Amino acid sequence: MHTEICDTLGIEFPIFAFTHCRDVVAAVSNAGGIGVLGAIAFTPEQLEVELTWIDEHVGGHPYGVDIVIPAKYEGMDEMDPEKLEAQIQALVPAAHKEFARKLLADHGVPDLPEDEERSSGMMGWTAAHAAGLVDVALRHPNVRLVANALGTPPPDVVAKVQSSGRLIGALAGSVAHALHHKDAGLDFIICQGSEGGGHTGDVGSIVLWPEVIEAVAPIPVLAAGGVGSGRQMAAALALGAQGVWSGTLWLTVEEADIPPGQMATYLAASSRDTIRSRSFTGKPCRMLKNDWTDAWEAEDTPDPLPMPLQMIVAIEAVSRGHRYPEQAKDVNFNPCGQVIGRATKVRKARDVVLSMVEEYIEATDRLQAVSTV
Ligand SMILES: Cc1cc2nc3c(=O)[nH]c(=O)nc-3n(C[C@H](O)[C@H](O)[C@H](O)COP(=O)(O)O)c2cc1C
Repeated sequence: MHTEICDTLGIEFPIFAFTHCRDVVAAVSNAGGIGVLGAIAFTPEQLEVELTWIDEHVGGHPYGVDIVIPAKYEGMDEMDPEKLEAQIQALVPAAHKEFARKLLADHGVPDLPEDEERSSGMMGWTAAHAAGLVDVALRHPNVRLVANALGTPPPDVVAKVQSSGRLIGALAGSVAHALHHKDAGLDFIICQGSEGGGHTGDVGSIVLWPEVIEAVAPIPVLAAGGVGSGRQMAAALALGAQGVWSGTLWLTVEEADIPPGQMATYLAASSRDTIRSRSFTGKPCRMLKNDWTDAWEAEDTPDPLPMPLQMIVAIEAVSRGHRYPEQAKDVNFNPCGQVIGRATKVRKARDVVLSMVEEYIEATDRLQAVSTV
């Protein structure tokens, strides 16, 4: 199980845990895997606080930071961020915002308090914001990798991370994405099959992983999408992956900072309860199916807008869902992959890592026994 990328990063097991919770990052890194903090929702100042806390709790073990760095596009550098945001806001049809508000009202989800700060919906999804987060991440020596969620990071970010002695990688949902990352000189590629949580393509892991591994060799590939056990990890490594990158698995661990109602929803879900929907971000994203996703799928309702416009439409639902998780349970944003069906009880992150290792060994022993019969 100890692959080359384990030596490069100084980790024991090639188990990469994507999470928004610092406690999960620390627990996984302390157990011999590597926690990766999703930084999208943080300002640079907040990220500094989170990473300082992780440094204090990770005992010198490595961890990573995941950022959304959009590929640069014409005019982005010159454009004043406020002007850009005003232009984008103006493109959102009033009917979409009204439809979203009515859905929330029909489900009895209260408005945010008057004095509560409101997010615009653009979140941290601009190159300028991401650059600030990267600078913070690179000030923390235990941060050993930076990953990018959507697209190939721009050359200046790749150069900055690599010249600091760290690895930079990015998610890919198709061979074309992966080849683009390879051309940009990334150090590793996270290949995410369709069953994974969050933004996904439409090809399943068992087909996509080997396609991408062959296309980008010798760049290390981490297999993502549907990994919830050591048996699935053994399958990924048998197909040539250097490790596994998982997200759904860490939503239901004891250390996860998730409201009790949302946790109960995740624990009750089966592998058939997810859908790839554009209704929150504008790009196909796997999440639990609920009244919100159904409403945007219906024939007589507005179609979701492209990213980032749909995020502006949906931000109120996300914010009100965070504030009132119980009232919003049928319209909440619950990103997760199909492997959520395996999560039926809350476990410690450390136990999850160690049981994956045990199951992996059992699976490989079983194969060994079969091949020597
Ligand atoms: C709740 C949730 C939020 C996610 N947010 C991000 C993100 O901000 N950035 C990112 O690179 N990947 C994100 N992902 C995708 C994960 O990094 C990972 O690729 C995916 O969860 C792997 O598939 P699995 O869910 O089957 O384990 C998210 C996944 C989940 C479940």
